[in-house]
This record gives sequence, C-alpha cells and structure tokens, in this order.
Amino acid sequence: MTIRHFLSTQDWSRADLDTLLAQAAAFKRAKAGNQLAGKAIALLFFNPSMRTRTSFELGAFQLGGHAIVLQPGKDAWPIEFDIGAVMDAEAEEHVAEVARVLSRYVDLIGVRAFPKFQDWAIDREDRVIHAFAKYATVPVINMETITHPMQELAHILALQQQFGTTDLRGRKYVLTWTYHPKPLNTAVANSALQIATRFGMDVTLLCPTPEYLLDPRYMDFARRNVADNGGSLTISHDPASAYRGAHVVYAKSWGALPYFGRWANEKPIRDAHRHFIVDEAKMALTDHGVFSHCLPLRRNVKATDAVMDSPACIAIDEAENRLHVQKAVMAALANQ
Ligand code: CP
Repeated sequence: MTIRHFLSTQDWSRADLDTLLAQAAAFKRAKAGNQLAGKAIALLFFNPSMRTRTSFELGAFQLGGHAIVLQPGKDAWPIEFDIGAVMDAEAEEHVAEVARVLSRYVDLIGVRAFPKFQDWAIDREDRVIHAFAKYATVPVINMETITHPMQELAHILALQQQFGTTDLRGRKYVLTWTYHPKPLNTAVANSALQIATRFGMDVTLLCPTPEYLLDPRYMDFARRNVADNGGSLTISHDPASAYRGAHVVYAKSWGALPYFGRWANEKPIRDAHRHFIVDEAKMALTDHGVFSHCLPLRRNVKATDAVMDSPACIAIDEAENRLHVQKAVMAALANQ
C-alpha cells in the first residue's frame, strides 16, 4: 500500500481538504474520540514551538493515542541527512535509521524543520521532511518546514466559521508582509498564498518591494490555483490600495529570498518598511475585515495592541483550530 503523507495541501484534493475541515469542525463541537486508540505519534522538533507541540500532544491524547516529543540534537541524537556522508562530524545517526526505527514504534511521524537561512537554493529542497517521507514506513506530517499546512487548515476553518459559510469565493484577501527585526521563514506566507487561492479568494500579496515576492514554486501554485478555482492574484507594494475593501487581512513577516545568507544587506530595506505594521488606520480601510496571524506575534511591531485586542482579530480562534484540524489529519492518516 502506498503511504499517504501530509507534506503539503497541494498534494491533497479540494474534496479531501473539505472532508478534513468538516471532521475538524466536528472535533471542535465534540473533542473526544477513539480514532488513535492504541496508536502513537512521534513529534520531531528541530525548532521551537508552543502551539504546534501543545496541540499535537493534546490532540493525540484526546483521540486515545500517545505522543512522544523528540528534539534531535537536544534530547535525541543529532541526525545526518546527506546520502553517502562520511559521518565524522556532529551527527550520530542517519535519517535512514531514525525514520525506519521510529516507524517500527509509532503510527505517525510529525516533523518541524525550518530553513537554515544561509542558501535558499538548498533550503527550498526541504530535505529534512522529504528524507523522513522517503525512509519512513508510516505517514509523515509537516509541522512546518518551508510551508505550514496545519496552519493553512486552521486558518481556513477560522475564516469559514467567521463568515458562516464553507464557500470563501468572492472574499478579498490580503496577505501582508510586516516588519520584524529578524528575517523569518517564508513558510506561513507560502502557505497562506496557496491555501487562499485554493479556496478561490481574490488574493493580494502585499510586500515592500519585488524582492519580497515568494519563491516561484509558490507563486506558480497560486496562479494555477486561480486558474483551477477562480478568484484572482494581485501583487501590490502599496498598503492603502491593498487594504481598501478587504474582507481578510493576514499578516506575516519573512526574509527576502535574494538576501539569504547576506541579511545585513536586506536590513536597510526591512527597516524602511516598519510602516507595514497592521494598525487601526489600515484596518479602517477594509470592508469590516477580519485580521489574523499564525502567532507568535510581536505586538506593536507586526500589529498594534488595538488591532490584536479588537473584535476583528481571529488569531486566537485560528490557534485553537490547530488542535481540531490536526486531530482530523492524524485520524485520517492513522486509519488509511
Ligand atoms: N503557529 C505556530 O506554528 O506556532 P508555534 O511556532 O508556537 O508552534
């Protein structure tokens, strides 16, 4: 039997995503279940987490399963990913063994592995999670690498519940870059772009300059999604026109891809665009728009206190939904 992983929402049909979202909504109404009774998931964190770790561990528990958290290089052996590597540096074991051994113990493997931020040509290969998917004999779930599919599902469920309909077509959606003192992962931006277009919304990607456009892979996914599902994709560098009439504002900061590995050269551009902060004045331009963010969020840097504390902010609902959508994904994958 072919193992079905959850590495990207683009690998899953709209019908499958709709089924998962419906199951997630059901779990939100009644949290307990037995879909993971007697089953276990290993959660491998190469990077920090608050929401992802908590919601996966809790979700497994609520479905009768068990979660084991491992932090390679901290509480588990450091792992080598290069095929044919002479392992005379830090790594003590190869992913070929790690993935196959874990597959003998557990029914699912979750992986969080961020880019190294030195060379985007290497980071865009997403080697860590693809190596686990290659060697594991159980399903692998992306807990954020260069995309964040669990956040995508939680985001869409929050919008569906906010608007009271599963049909998001015709909504004007703004994905806005925001300032942050450090260059961050493009994962959530890539994900927001692909899932918003997947659900047929009229999407504007608002970013400071063309250098902040996302990797062509995700720009192409978005254009293909528009062709397949309707809606539209617009690129803007002007906050006022982008926010005007918006129904959804989704914020994220990310590093400009041409500057990977030479971030000091990006800093002046970044610093010149602190005004991309989500504030009351910009939200006033929207059509009673809602605001969200994947969290964590630096207040009064990415969004003001007033926006975060306003009724328009649905970031906490979205964070809660991580629990429900991940339960739906774990239940589906563990019972293929
Ligand atoms: N949004 C999200 O993935 O949060 P954590 O980094 O805290 O897991």
